[in-house]
Amino acid sequence: MCQVPVFFATSEGQTRRIAQRIATVLHDLGLEACVIDVAGPHASHIDWGHVRGAFVGASLHIGKHQKAAERFVKAHAVDLTSVPSAFFSVSLSAASKNPNEVEAAEKLAKAFPSACGWMPTRIVSVAGRLAYREYGFFIRWVIKRIAQKEGAPTDTSRDYELTNWEEVNALARDMARRIHARAAVA
Ligand SMILES: Cc1cc2nc3c(=O)[nH]c(=O)nc-3n(C[C@H](O)[C@H](O)[C@H](O)COP(=O)(O)O)c2cc1C
Repeated sequence: MCQVPVFFATSEGQTRRIAQRIATVLHDLGLEACVIDVAGPHASHIDWGHVRGAFVGASLHIGKHQKAAERFVKAHAVDLTSVPSAFFSVSLSAASKNPNEVEAAEKLAKAFPSACGWMPTRIVSVAGRLAYREYGFFIRWVIKRIAQKEGAPTDTSRDYELTNWEEVNALARDMARRIHARAAVA
């Protein structure tokens, strides 16, 4: 049984890693959490009657979150809104040295749930990963240009972990507290 599904959409894998970390923290705090790809078969077989809280994560690519995440949230907006829930948006801009870029990522994060009819308890913009070694030639070139603009690392011979894992842990702990608190008053 899954009490707290942590749904994710990913293009290069970092949002899945963040979802896994959230599930680990929730599990340590006594909640049955499971990590579910919104584009996979399990996403449509959730027993929402047992769900006590939920997360959805998606990453930014050319200014947009994954279509699969949008479809999923639109289809389950009522279920998601009926429990303590959090949206985490993963991007390069969240780690930018330019405050305008950080703010732009926050705006995109805030716009996503409401555009899908979901009112989450928390919305968080999280820095992702620069996976230079996984990109093809053209994407590597484009991302390096963006990284230059944002003051991010540009040595394309290696990957860079930009995620603040303590911030991810704190989000999971805060949501676990809210989920337990809701059970206590029910
Ligand atoms: C083709 C491409 C486009 C991207 N576009 C954006 C963007 O518009 N804004 C941004 O902040 N980050 C952008 N990024 C950075 C990703 O959001 C970041 O690498 C994130 O960690 C990807 O998460 P994922 O591995 O879960 O897909 C882009 C990355 C790639 C490869």
